[in-house]
Amino acid sequence: MSASGPTLSSEYASATPLQIRIDTHARHSEHPDDPASMVLDLLELTGAEELADIGCGDARFLAQLANGGHRGRLVGVDTSPAMVAAAAAIAGVDTRLADAEHLPFADGEFDLTTARHMLYHVPHPEAALREFQRITRPGGRVIVTVNHPGTCARTRELVTRHARPFGLAPVEEMANSVTSSTLPDMMDAVFGNAHVHRFDNALIFSSAPPLLRFAEALFSFCGVDTDTPHRAEIRAAVAADIDTWFAANPGQVWRDPKGYISVVATVE
Ligand SMILES: C[S@@+](CC[C@H](N)C(=O)[O-])C[C@H]1O[C@@H](n2cnc3c(N)ncnc32)[C@H](O)[C@@H]1O
Repeated sequence: MSASGPTLSSEYASATPLQIRIDTHARHSEHPDDPASMVLDLLELTGAEELADIGCGDARFLAQLANGGHRGRLVGVDTSPAMVAAAAAIAGVDTRLADAEHLPFADGEFDLTTARHMLYHVPHPEAALREFQRITRPGGRVIVTVNHPGTCARTRELVTRHARPFGLAPVEEMANSVTSSTLPDMMDAVFGNAHVHRFDNALIFSSAPPLLRFAEALFSFCGVDTDTPHRAEIRAAVAADIDTWFAANPGQVWRDPKGYISVVATVE
Protein backbone atom coordinates (compact mmCIF):
# COMPACT_ATOMS: atom_id res chain seq x y z
CA MET A 1 0.00 0.00 0.00
CA SER A 2 1.24 3.52 -0.70
CA ALA A 3 1.65 5.63 2.47
CA SER A 4 -1.28 7.90 1.59
CA GLY A 5 -3.59 5.22 0.13
CA PRO A 6 -5.19 5.25 -3.31
CA THR A 7 -4.85 8.34 -5.49
CA LEU A 8 -6.67 9.55 -8.56
CA SER A 9 -3.63 8.49 -10.58
CA SER A 10 -3.72 4.94 -9.22
CA GLU A 11 -7.50 4.68 -9.66
CA TYR A 12 -7.34 5.79 -13.30
CA ALA A 13 -4.04 4.10 -14.14
CA SER A 14 -6.16 1.42 -15.80
CA ALA A 15 -9.48 1.87 -17.57
CA THR A 16 -10.86 -1.39 -16.12
CA PRO A 17 -12.53 -0.34 -12.81
CA LEU A 18 -14.21 2.61 -14.56
CA GLN A 19 -15.42 0.29 -17.34
CA ILE A 20 -16.83 -2.12 -14.73
CA ARG A 21 -18.69 0.72 -13.01
CA ILE A 22 -20.08 2.03 -16.32
CA ASP A 23 -21.14 -1.49 -17.40
CA THR A 24 -22.75 -2.12 -14.00
CA HIS A 25 -24.79 1.08 -14.26
CA ALA A 26 -25.86 0.08 -17.77
CA ARG A 27 -26.92 -3.46 -16.74
CA HIS A 28 -28.14 -3.23 -13.15
CA SER A 29 -30.10 0.01 -12.91
CA GLU A 30 -33.69 0.00 -11.73
CA HIS A 31 -34.63 2.35 -14.59
CA PRO A 32 -32.71 2.51 -17.87
CA ASP A 33 -29.57 4.54 -17.22
CA ASP A 34 -27.62 5.92 -20.14
CA PRO A 35 -25.98 9.16 -18.98
CA ALA A 36 -24.16 9.61 -22.30
CA SER A 37 -27.42 9.60 -24.25
CA MET A 38 -28.97 11.88 -21.63
CA VAL A 39 -26.22 14.46 -22.22
CA LEU A 40 -26.48 13.97 -25.99
CA ASP A 41 -30.19 14.83 -25.80
CA LEU A 42 -29.37 18.00 -23.87
CA LEU A 43 -26.70 19.01 -26.41
CA GLU A 44 -29.25 19.18 -29.29
CA LEU A 45 -26.45 18.67 -31.82
CA THR A 46 -26.54 19.61 -35.48
CA GLY A 47 -23.43 17.46 -36.08
CA ALA A 48 -21.16 20.38 -36.98
CA GLU A 49 -20.21 21.57 -33.48
CA GLU A 50 -16.66 21.60 -32.14
CA LEU A 51 -16.91 19.81 -28.81
CA ALA A 52 -14.45 19.29 -25.94
CA ASP A 53 -15.18 16.56 -23.39
CA ILE A 54 -13.14 17.17 -20.24
CA GLY A 55 -12.29 14.15 -18.07
CA CYS A 56 -13.28 12.02 -21.05
CA GLY A 57 -12.21 8.68 -19.54
CA ASP A 58 -12.08 5.97 -22.21
CA ALA A 59 -14.09 8.34 -24.46
CA ARG A 60 -17.00 6.04 -25.16
CA PHE A 61 -19.16 9.19 -25.18
CA LEU A 62 -17.09 10.74 -27.99
CA ALA A 63 -17.02 7.36 -29.76
CA GLN A 64 -20.82 7.40 -29.77
CA LEU A 65 -20.72 10.82 -31.45
CA ALA A 66 -17.97 9.91 -33.92
CA ASN A 67 -19.72 6.66 -34.87
CA GLY A 68 -22.98 8.58 -35.27
CA GLY A 69 -21.44 10.70 -38.03
CA HIS A 70 -20.64 13.89 -36.09
CA ARG A 71 -18.67 16.16 -38.46
CA GLY A 72 -17.32 18.82 -36.09
CA ARG A 73 -14.05 18.41 -34.18
CA LEU A 74 -14.28 16.12 -31.14
CA VAL A 75 -11.59 16.51 -28.47
CA GLY A 76 -11.19 14.37 -25.35
CA VAL A 77 -9.12 15.68 -22.42
CA ASP A 78 -7.96 13.66 -19.42
CA THR A 79 -5.15 13.64 -16.85
CA SER A 80 -4.78 9.84 -17.05
CA PRO A 81 -2.36 8.58 -19.72
CA ALA A 82 -4.27 5.25 -19.82
CA MET A 83 -7.55 7.05 -20.54
CA VAL A 84 -5.99 9.29 -23.16
CA ALA A 85 -4.46 6.22 -24.83
CA ALA A 86 -7.88 4.53 -24.89
CA ALA A 87 -9.50 7.69 -26.27
CA ALA A 88 -6.77 8.13 -28.90
CA ALA A 89 -7.64 4.71 -30.34
CA ILE A 90 -11.06 6.01 -31.42
CA ALA A 91 -11.22 7.18 -35.02
CA GLY A 92 -12.36 10.77 -35.32
CA VAL A 93 -11.42 11.73 -31.74
CA ASP A 94 -8.56 14.12 -30.98
CA THR A 95 -7.03 13.83 -27.49
CA ARG A 96 -5.03 15.92 -25.00
CA LEU A 97 -3.34 14.85 -21.78
CA ALA A 98 -4.25 17.91 -19.71
CA ASP A 99 -5.78 19.17 -16.48
CA ALA A 100 -9.27 20.67 -16.38
CA GLU A 101 -7.88 23.64 -14.46
CA HIS A 102 -5.35 24.48 -17.21
CA LEU A 103 -6.78 23.63 -20.61
CA PRO A 104 -4.46 23.87 -23.63
CA PHE A 105 -7.01 25.66 -25.83
CA ALA A 106 -7.63 29.19 -27.07
CA ASP A 107 -10.47 31.35 -25.79
CA GLY A 108 -13.79 30.45 -27.44
CA GLU A 109 -12.30 27.50 -29.36
CA PHE A 110 -15.34 25.24 -28.82
CA ASP A 111 -19.08 25.45 -29.38
CA LEU A 112 -19.74 22.98 -26.57
CA THR A 113 -17.83 21.80 -23.53
CA THR A 114 -18.91 18.78 -21.52
CA ALA A 115 -17.56 17.45 -18.21
CA ARG A 116 -19.32 14.27 -17.19
CA HIS A 117 -18.77 12.65 -13.80
CA MET A 118 -15.38 14.26 -13.28
CA LEU A 119 -15.72 17.63 -11.52
CA TYR A 120 -15.75 15.96 -8.08
CA HIS A 121 -12.15 14.89 -8.69
CA VAL A 122 -10.82 18.37 -9.44
CA PRO A 123 -9.04 20.19 -6.55
CA HIS A 124 -10.43 23.63 -7.52
CA PRO A 125 -13.74 23.02 -9.30
CA GLU A 126 -14.53 26.75 -9.73
CA ALA A 127 -11.20 27.17 -11.57
CA ALA A 128 -12.17 24.29 -13.89
CA LEU A 129 -15.60 25.83 -14.53
CA ARG A 130 -13.92 29.14 -15.46
CA GLU A 131 -11.70 27.22 -17.89
CA PHE A 132 -14.78 25.53 -19.43
CA GLN A 133 -16.29 29.02 -19.82
CA ARG A 134 -13.08 30.44 -21.33
CA ILE A 135 -12.68 27.77 -24.05
CA THR A 136 -16.37 27.91 -25.05
CA ARG A 137 -17.48 30.64 -27.47
CA PRO A 138 -20.12 33.22 -26.49
CA GLY A 139 -23.51 31.64 -27.10
CA GLY A 140 -21.99 28.17 -26.72
CA ARG A 141 -22.92 25.85 -23.88
CA VAL A 142 -21.21 24.04 -21.04
CA ILE A 143 -22.79 20.87 -19.62
CA VAL A 144 -21.58 19.38 -16.36
CA THR A 145 -22.85 16.11 -14.83
CA VAL A 146 -22.28 15.15 -11.18
CA ASN A 147 -23.78 12.59 -8.83
CA HIS A 148 -26.21 13.07 -5.98
CA PRO A 149 -24.60 13.02 -2.54
CA GLY A 150 -24.75 9.48 -1.18
CA THR A 151 -24.83 7.84 -4.60
CA CYS A 152 -24.26 4.08 -4.11
CA ALA A 153 -23.61 4.76 -0.42
CA ARG A 154 -24.81 1.30 0.60
CA THR A 155 -22.19 -0.55 -1.43
CA ARG A 156 -19.47 1.94 -0.49
CA GLU A 157 -20.34 1.46 3.18
CA LEU A 158 -20.14 -2.31 2.76
CA VAL A 159 -16.57 -2.03 1.45
CA THR A 160 -15.52 0.68 3.91
CA ARG A 161 -16.74 -1.45 6.83
CA HIS A 162 -14.34 -4.23 5.85
CA ALA A 163 -11.46 -1.87 5.01
CA ARG A 164 -11.61 -0.03 8.35
CA PRO A 165 -10.20 -2.91 10.51
CA PHE A 166 -7.02 -2.70 8.40
CA GLY A 167 -6.67 1.02 9.11
CA LEU A 168 -7.94 1.95 5.64
CA ALA A 169 -10.41 4.76 5.00
CA PRO A 170 -11.62 6.80 2.01
CA VAL A 171 -8.94 9.24 0.89
CA GLU A 172 -10.07 12.87 0.77
CA GLU A 173 -8.12 13.59 -2.41
CA MET A 174 -10.38 11.21 -4.34
CA ALA A 175 -13.45 13.45 -4.23
CA ASN A 176 -14.32 17.03 -3.31
CA SER A 177 -17.74 18.31 -2.21
CA VAL A 178 -19.20 18.94 -5.68
CA THR A 179 -22.52 17.09 -5.86
CA SER A 180 -25.98 17.75 -7.24
CA SER A 181 -26.57 19.79 -4.04
CA THR A 182 -23.73 22.23 -4.67
CA LEU A 183 -23.15 22.35 -8.44
CA PRO A 184 -26.15 24.50 -9.54
CA ASP A 185 -25.14 27.49 -7.37
CA MET A 186 -21.49 27.04 -8.31
CA MET A 187 -22.34 27.14 -12.04
CA ASP A 188 -24.77 30.03 -11.61
CA ALA A 189 -21.99 32.02 -9.91
CA VAL A 190 -19.60 31.43 -12.83
CA PHE A 191 -21.97 31.60 -15.83
CA GLY A 192 -24.86 33.74 -14.54
CA ASN A 193 -27.27 30.97 -15.59
CA ALA A 194 -27.71 27.27 -14.88
CA HIS A 195 -30.51 24.92 -15.95
CA VAL A 196 -30.72 21.72 -13.94
CA HIS A 197 -31.86 18.33 -15.30
CA ARG A 198 -32.23 15.73 -12.56
CA PHE A 199 -32.15 11.93 -12.85
CA ASP A 200 -33.00 9.64 -9.91
CA ASN A 201 -32.37 5.91 -10.02
CA ALA A 202 -30.93 2.96 -8.08
CA LEU A 203 -28.67 0.02 -8.71
CA ILE A 204 -30.35 -3.31 -8.10
CA PHE A 205 -28.64 -6.68 -7.84
CA SER A 206 -30.53 -9.96 -7.74
CA SER A 207 -27.42 -12.11 -7.21
CA ALA A 208 -24.03 -11.87 -5.53
CA PRO A 209 -21.47 -11.98 -8.41
CA PRO A 210 -22.30 -8.66 -10.13
CA LEU A 211 -22.59 -6.91 -6.75
CA LEU A 212 -19.15 -8.18 -5.72
CA ARG A 213 -17.73 -7.08 -9.07
CA PHE A 214 -19.17 -3.59 -8.58
CA ALA A 215 -18.02 -3.44 -4.93
CA GLU A 216 -14.47 -4.27 -6.02
CA ALA A 217 -14.61 -1.51 -8.66
CA LEU A 218 -15.26 0.90 -5.74
CA PHE A 219 -12.30 -0.32 -3.64
CA SER A 220 -10.02 2.66 -4.32
CA PHE A 221 -12.77 5.11 -3.29
CA CYS A 222 -12.97 3.24 0.03
CA GLY A 223 -9.21 3.43 0.72
CA VAL A 224 -8.22 0.03 -0.76
CA ASP A 225 -5.48 0.44 -3.36
CA THR A 226 -4.54 -2.16 -6.00
CA ASP A 227 -1.41 -3.08 -4.01
CA THR A 228 -2.89 -2.90 -0.50
CA PRO A 229 -1.47 -6.02 1.24
CA HIS A 230 -4.86 -6.89 2.77
CA ARG A 231 -6.82 -6.48 -0.47
CA ALA A 232 -7.54 -10.22 -0.82
CA GLU A 233 -8.77 -10.48 2.80
CA ILE A 234 -10.99 -7.43 2.36
CA ARG A 235 -12.40 -8.84 -0.87
CA ALA A 236 -13.10 -12.18 0.84
CA ALA A 237 -14.88 -10.43 3.74
CA VAL A 238 -16.98 -8.33 1.35
CA ALA A 239 -17.85 -11.46 -0.66
CA ALA A 240 -18.87 -13.36 2.50
CA ASP A 241 -21.06 -10.45 3.62
CA ILE A 242 -22.76 -10.31 0.22
CA ASP A 243 -23.37 -14.09 0.20
CA THR A 244 -24.81 -13.90 3.73
CA TRP A 245 -27.15 -11.07 2.72
CA PHE A 246 -28.54 -12.95 -0.30
CA ALA A 247 -28.92 -16.15 1.76
CA ALA A 248 -30.82 -14.24 4.46
CA ASN A 249 -33.04 -12.38 1.97
CA PRO A 250 -34.19 -14.94 -0.62
CA GLY A 251 -35.97 -13.44 -3.61
CA GLN A 252 -35.00 -9.90 -2.64
CA VAL A 253 -32.77 -7.48 -4.51
CA TRP A 254 -29.89 -5.45 -3.09
CA ARG A 255 -30.99 -1.87 -3.83
CA ASP A 256 -28.59 1.06 -3.72
CA PRO A 257 -30.01 4.53 -4.57
CA LYS A 258 -28.11 6.71 -6.99
CA GLY A 259 -28.63 9.60 -9.33
CA TYR A 260 -27.12 12.66 -10.92
CA ILE A 261 -27.83 16.05 -12.40
CA SER A 262 -26.71 17.57 -15.66
CA VAL A 263 -26.45 21.34 -15.48
CA VAL A 264 -26.53 23.34 -18.73
CA ALA A 265 -25.09 26.86 -18.80
CA THR A 266 -24.88 29.23 -21.77
CA VAL A 267 -21.72 31.31 -22.13
CA GLU A 268 -22.60 35.00 -22.35
C1 LIG B 1 -15.40 8.90 -13.20
S1 LIG B 1 -14.35 9.11 -14.58
C2 LIG B 1 -15.51 9.69 -15.79
C3 LIG B 1 -15.08 9.45 -17.21
C4 LIG B 1 -16.08 9.89 -18.28
N1 LIG B 1 -16.35 11.31 -18.24
C5 LIG B 1 -17.37 9.13 -18.13
O1 LIG B 1 -18.38 9.71 -17.69
O2 LIG B 1 -17.35 7.93 -18.44
C6 LIG B 1 -13.42 10.57 -14.18
C7 LIG B 1 -12.35 10.92 -15.23
O3 LIG B 1 -11.85 12.23 -14.93
C8 LIG B 1 -10.44 12.23 -15.09
N2 LIG B 1 -9.91 13.37 -14.31
C9 LIG B 1 -9.77 13.45 -12.97
N3 LIG B 1 -9.26 14.65 -12.61
C10 LIG B 1 -9.11 15.35 -13.77
C11 LIG B 1 -8.64 16.67 -14.06
N4 LIG B 1 -8.24 17.49 -13.10
N5 LIG B 1 -8.62 17.08 -15.35
C12 LIG B 1 -9.02 16.23 -16.34
N6 LIG B 1 -9.47 14.97 -16.12
C13 LIG B 1 -9.51 14.54 -14.86
C14 LIG B 1 -10.03 10.86 -14.61
O4 LIG B 1 -8.74 10.49 -15.07
C15 LIG B 1 -11.15 9.99 -15.18
O5 LIG B 1 -10.86 9.52 -16.48
